[in-house]
Amino acid sequence: MTATITNVSGLQVLDSRGRPTVCALITLSDQSVHKVTVPSGASTGRHEALELRDTNSQRAEKFYSGKSVSLAVSHINELIAPTMIGLVPDVATIDQIMIQLDPTPRHEKLGANATLAVSLATLKAGAHSHRQSIARYLQPTGKLQLPMPMVNILSGGAHANGALDIQDVLVIPHGATSFSQALSWVVAIRESAAKRGAEQGFTTNLVADEGGLGIPFASSAKACEFVAQCIESVGLTAGHEVSIALDIAATQFFNDGQYVSRNSGKTFTSEQWSQQLLELLDQAPIISIEDPFAEDDWAAWKSFMTQLPRSIAVVGDDLFTTNAARLAQGIQEKSANSILIKPNQNGLVSSTFDVLSRAKMSNFATIVSARSGESEDTWLADIATGWSAGQIKVGSTHGSERTAKWNRLLELEHSDETVFTNPF
Ligand code: PGA
Ligand code: ZN
Repeated sequence: MTATITNVSGLQVLDSRGRPTVCALITLSDQSVHKVTVPSGASTGRHEALELRDTNSQRAEKFYSGKSVSLAVSHINELIAPTMIGLVPDVATIDQIMIQLDPTPRHEKLGANATLAVSLATLKAGAHSHRQSIARYLQPTGKLQLPMPMVNILSGGAHANGALDIQDVLVIPHGATSFSQALSWVVAIRESAAKRGAEQGFTTNLVADEGGLGIPFASSAKACEFVAQCIESVGLTAGHEVSIALDIAATQFFNDGQYVSRNSGKTFTSEQWSQQLLELLDQAPIISIEDPFAEDDWAAWKSFMTQLPRSIAVVGDDLFTTNAARLAQGIQEKSANSILIKPNQNGLVSSTFDVLSRAKMSNFATIVSARSGESEDTWLADIATGWSAGQIKVGSTHGSERTAKWNRLLELEHSDETVFTNPF
């Protein structure tokens, strides 16, 4: 007999930055308990689903600077839980119930942190009911495709007190023939970066929110040159076996219609900023560039796409915010060719999957992504695999909240039901 839901509850726990976040627990009639903690961003896009915090409300807890989430937790306990008791754990059904409870597009009434926690816990409970891993439950037959990792080496922007204008310099080990080999290459590059950075007089024992090194290079070009050297220093060929990916997170330094570079002390119009980026693409072995322009600077994105010197992934994160309507506009205007998929930007598992499917149908590359505030959960690795996303972005190789996801991918690889292919 299929197990049914006997209890649903929420509680406030801490994320990897020590900030409150929402955890949901679902108990089934077979006594099993399924728990999920939702992630949270720092460079949050304006069009993301609403992360409900107790800011300015009676509930705000003194020591959490208005960031407590007791209101979102109460929505799980008081509004969502009663509607789920006795049902089988089916994500599509539960997501529909939550949409009926709160039809606002950004989940403003219940809070997307509440809805996503319940949605993911339902997915986990559903997989358990079918005696499958989440990855296998999402793709019942055939070999599972492990994602290519995109891994943070240097951090700047909102993740490292503005050490660099741009938020992340990452690497993609696309020449590797297995996931474990890909990870071993990246670990070596990350170690080389720490060692070489220290030799150049920088502090490298402190890490940013996502485990990257917060080295304050004078320019993005210098940061890219450094990472390319680190790739070569471990005996790999930059541009052939391992390439650079950038997350510019340009919304963070877009002010009054201008891009304000703290590194250079200069201000750029969209067209000038585009030229800066095109020069950078000329100089360094970059194959992927995320959020090169601000979240609503649509014209700049479109124009940039027509000027690319070679095949480069142009990734929309803050631009799309895992939102179907924004993706539709991007497909129509040819604003990008890749999308970051962050479940908590969307608020539900099923509609996150709809966005990913729609992107794939339009030949967009898809990258399932963690946030700067994470938990020890590993569902992200299963989702990236079960949905055949092609790529995954989890931060660096430091911090248990990051390694938990890498280790889960190693475990999936070990199961022998997987393949690893280069999406580039
Ligand atoms: P965030 O950043 O999780 O802090 O929003 C991640 C990203 O921009 O990709
Ligand atoms: Zn981003």
